[in-house]
Formats: sequence, C-alpha cells, structure tokens
Amino acid sequence: METVLSKPRLSKRILEMKESSTLKMAALSRALKAEGHNVISLSLGEPDFDTPEHIKVAAKQAIDDNFSHYTPVPGYLDLREAISHKFKRDNKVDYSPAQIVVSTGAKQTLANLMLCLLNEGDEVILPIPYWVSYEAQVILAGATVNSIPTSVDTDFKITAAQLEEAINENTKVFLFSSPCNPSGSVYLKEELEALADVLAKHPQIVVVADEIYEHINFTDGHFSIAQLPQLKDRVVTVNGLSKGFAMTGWRLGYMGAPLDIAKACSKMQGQFTSATCSITQRAAIVALGDNLEPTFKMKEAFKQRRALMIELLSDMPGVKINEPEGAFYIFPDFSAFVGKKAGDTVIESVDQLCMHILNTAHVALVAGAGFGNPECMRISYANSEENLREAMARMKKCLSELS
Ligand SMILES: Cc1ncc(COP(=O)(O)O)c(C=O)c1O
Repeated sequence: METVLSKPRLSKRILEMKESSTLKMAALSRALKAEGHNVISLSLGEPDFDTPEHIKVAAKQAIDDNFSHYTPVPGYLDLREAISHKFKRDNKVDYSPAQIVVSTGAKQTLANLMLCLLNEGDEVILPIPYWVSYEAQVILAGATVNSIPTSVDTDFKITAAQLEEAINENTKVFLFSSPCNPSGSVYLKEELEALADVLAKHPQIVVVADEIYEHINFTDGHFSIAQLPQLKDRVVTVNGLSKGFAMTGWRLGYMGAPLDIAKACSKMQGQFTSATCSITQRAAIVALGDNLEPTFKMKEAFKQRRALMIELLSDMPGVKINEPEGAFYIFPDFSAFVGKKAGDTVIESVDQLCMHILNTAHVALVAGAGFGNPECMRISYANSEENLREAMARMKKCLSELS
C-alpha cells in the first residue's frame, strides 16, 4: 500500500526553486547526443581551452607536498595575500587579506553573500539580463528581485535614472555582472560613475560587482566600481578562476568585501562546506601571479570568434544583435520569429523557438527567459570556429524555413 504523507517530503524551498536553465539545456543536448545526433552545444558557460600548464604543474606539486588537510575556512593566508595583491595590481582596489574569502566557485561566494545580507522583505536590484543563479539565490535567501529592463537597443545596460527609479526603502543589494553573462555588455568607467552617484545617496545598499569575466573584456580596460570613492566600504567585488583561467572544474571563487561582510561569509561557509579544495588553492596562488600570457591568448581567441559571430548573425534576417564587449556570449533578440510557423506549429515564444532549434538543427542555445529577458537567446561562442560556422549555418537554415 502506498504511504500517504501528511506533508510533502521535500521542502517548500526546493520545490519552489527554478532549475538552472543553462544546466537544463546542457542536459537536453547531452540526451540528444546520446541518441546519436550530432549536437553542437553553444549553451555552455565555460572556456573550451585547457587550464594553462604552469597552473597544472603547481597543483601536481601541491599533491606531492601533501597539501591534503583542511585549510582555514576563508582560504590559506598566502592565497588571500596573493588575491589582495591581485586586487591592487589589476583593479586598483585595497582589500586586506582579512577582507577576502575564498569559496568553492564564485557561485558559492554569491550564495554566501545572499544568505548573509538578506532578510525577508529585502529587495535586490538586478539589471536584466542577469545570470540565472542570482534570482534563485535571492529567493532562497527569502528576499525578492526588483529587476530593471534593458534591450538590445540600449546594449543591455541600465541608466542611472533607471537605477534611481528602482531604489526604494527595501532595497538592500545592487547586484550586477560586468562583463555580463549573458549579454557580454561591459559598463565603462563613466557609466559606473553615474550609477555610483545614485547609489551614494542610499547608504543602506551594498553593491555586489561580479567581475568573473574581468579578463575577457574587449574594451580599453576593465574598470571596477569598487575604485570609486563615493562607494567606499560598500562594494563587494566577486571574482574567480573559472573563466579567465579555464578552471571551471577546479572550483575556486573569491571576494573582497567590507570586513563585517567577509567575517559573516566565512562564518556561513564554515557551516556549509568549509574551505575549497587545498590543491586548487595552491594552484590559485600561481594562477593569480604575474604570468597572464595564456589568459591574454584566450581573450584574443574569444575576440576573433566574437567578430565571426557578429558576421554570421548579421547575415540572418530577423535576428537582432548588438556588439558585446566582453565574456564569450552574444544575446540576440529573436522576437521577430514569434508567431511564425514551423510546419503547422505556431512558434509561440522564443523559449519554444530555442527548443525547435535544438530538435531540428541540433544546436543547443539557452532561452533568455531564465536570464529575465524572454525575447532573446544566449549563444556561447566558447567553441571552435569550425563548430561555430556549422552551428550558425544550421540555425540560419532552420530560421529561414519558418513561415
Ligand atoms: C556571471 C557569473 N558569475 C558567477 C559564475 C560562477 O562561476 P564559478 O562558480 O564557476 O566560479 C558564473 C558562471 O557561469 C557566471 O557566469
């Protein structure tokens, strides 16, 4: 006999949580591949390069040197010193080692922050499009999202006036990524100054700047909002090794934060995972050192692929693009295809179009709804030029067959 439970076995928290749309698409494309289809996946948020050699050597050495024990929860002191130095060198920002917490990926850094900063009733301002996990983590922390719309016509960037209008007495955090996942947009110094002038009037707001794509920035240089004096002691800068050093599987993210926030996040992490992997931490000291040559090479490759994607997508009637300035994504607007027909089936949404492209062209993209913008799709160009050309040719054919 089936047991009837008076309450659901699983928590409301998990039952109400959205599945990550990027991970969902990756799973769907793997399933199609397993059926024998030649699927090209442009849905992944990771570099297609291998970790640079000198970093791998440091990890192997760390194993031989028996770095096999628990480490301090916020990370080894010499790693936090290296991060403090990196913040000074690259970002002209002072965070002492005590203000730095190293975590199991920037994803955990952000989760720590949301759990440490937010109470029920608090609001987090997220410019749209935002990275999928921001929304889920804010809701998990019991707070709500207050999102600010943008479009391809404004380069997916918000203005100071929009930010001013969105702020209210419940606003606790302003969270954004630059370069942005999924749009590739980069906020320039003047734009950040304008946003900072607004935020300066509201001292209760903590600014969380996710700079994990810092090294994949095609503008004249990356600018950190933490540099701005009007936001002194209010900015948490989040970063990590996954994107700039092709180290997604190694799991290391970090932040520089005001001391009280750093201590709180370390306490939170101490009850969840403790520190990240000791071997990864030793390798990170080398990764964050002065040999950025492999990182620059990857950036150059992404820049060339961006040019290719712009060329190929510009040649598809109905697809509207802007020029992304960083990361390895482009976020075209596909709304012109909604209402068209594939055979007898009406394409009712860009979400449905994304599934149609997967099932007919065998190209995996990620629908924009999970990023807060249901008119666009995210295309990752962290793939070979050959695959990008083939994927775009298939997609062009698929779109041209809609009537
Ligand atoms: C904007 C952004 N922030 C944070 C992360 C998390 O990176 P990780 O947990 O691999 O350090 C990602 C990964 O996709 C990202 O795109």
